[in-house]
Amino acid sequence: MSPKTGETADTLAQNLSEPPQTAAERPDPEQILFGASEPPAFPEGNIFPIEWDTETPKLVDIYEQSRNPGWSPATLPWDTLNPDDFTLDQRYAIAYWFTLLSVFDSSGPAVFARAMIHTYETHEEDPIRKCFFSVVRDEVNHEEICQRAITILTPGGPLNHDPETPLGKLALNNAKWYYHNGARYWDGFKGAVDKYPLAILFTSFLMGELAASTLFHGMHQRSTIPVFKEAFRFVGKDEARHLGICMAVLRKLLPELTDEEKATITKQIRAGYVFLSGILYEPPELFWELPDTFRDAHRLIEAEGIAAGLGTLSLEEREENWRTAVLRMKGIIEGYDIAFPALPEIGIDGETVAFDPKDIIPVF
Ligand SMILES: [Fe+2]
Ligand SMILES: [Fe+2]
Repeated sequence: MSPKTGETADTLAQNLSEPPQTAAERPDPEQILFGASEPPAFPEGNIFPIEWDTETPKLVDIYEQSRNPGWSPATLPWDTLNPDDFTLDQRYAIAYWFTLLSVFDSSGPAVFARAMIHTYETHEEDPIRKCFFSVVRDEVNHEEICQRAITILTPGGPLNHDPETPLGKLALNNAKWYYHNGARYWDGFKGAVDKYPLAILFTSFLMGELAASTLFHGMHQRSTIPVFKEAFRFVGKDEARHLGICMAVLRKLLPELTDEEKATITKQIRAGYVFLSGILYEPPELFWELPDTFRDAHRLIEAEGIAAGLGTLSLEEREENWRTAVLRMKGIIEGYDIAFPALPEIGIDGETVAFDPKDIIPVF
C-alpha cells in the first residue's frame, strides 16, 4: 500500500507486523541435511578443478617470480629504431629474421593456452596451471616483439608488403614457405595434447625452452641495435624461467615413466630437433617443405642481417650453440635412464630413431 498524504513514519511504524515464521518454526538444518543427496559424479576432463593443491612448491616460487616479468614490449626504446638508419636490404633482412621467429613465437600464445586448458581439464596442481598462464602471457609479449620489429621496418609485412629489391622479394618468398610449414604443425599439436601424458609434453617443451634461451642469450650479446639488444635480454630471461618450469615438472614426472613412455620421449626429442633447427640452425630436409631457392636465399638474407647488427650468429656458431644446448638436454634426459636420439646433423651419437612429422610437439 502506498503511504497516504500526511502519514508519517511514526504511524507507519505503529502498524508494523512480524512475518509469519518465528525462529521456533524455522526448519532445522540437520533435518534438511537428512534429505540431502549428492550430485552425479563429476565428469572427467571438466575444466573446473575448484581445488588449489600444491604438490611442487618450487612451481609456486617460479610463478611468484613471473608475476612481474620486469619488462614490457611497449616500454622498450622503439623510437630508437629508425628505418632510415638501414639500407632497404638490411630492413628486409631484419624483418625476415623476425618473421622466421614469429613462425615459432606467434604460435606460442595459442599453443600454451591450449596446454593451459589441458592442465585445467586434467586438474593438475594449481601452480602448474598458473605457470602455464604466465607462459601464455610471456609468449604474447614475445610475439609483440616480432610484430613491432616487422611493422616498423616493413610496414604491411611480413606477408602483405611489396619489397623493392631482389633480396626483399626472396625474403618474402622464403617467409611464405616458412609460414606454410609453421601452419602445418597445429593439427599435430592439438592431437598430441590429449594423446600424451604431461611428462612427454613437458620434455618437448623443455627442448623448445632450451633452444629459445640459448638463442636469445647469444643474440643479446651480439646485437648492436639497442632496442633488439634489450628485447633479446628480456625474452631470454623469460625463456630461462620457462626452462625452470619444465625442469621443476620433469623432476617430478620423469622418475615415474614406463618404458614405452621413455621410448616416446626419445622419438619426441628427435622430432623437436628437426622442428627447432628451423630457427636455431638451418631447417633440415625432414619435415620442412621448402623450395630449392630457399637455402641460398636464406644465407644471403642472413648475411645482410648480420651486417646490419641484428646479432644473428654465424652458421658455425649456431651449430656449436645448438650442440651445447642439446648436450645439456642429453645430460638431463639420460639421468632418468631415457635413451637420447642420434642427431647426426650436429654430430651427436645416440639411438637411431625414425622421424615422423606427427611427433612434433615442441614449442618455443
Ligand atoms: Fe617465447
Ligand atoms: Fe618459452
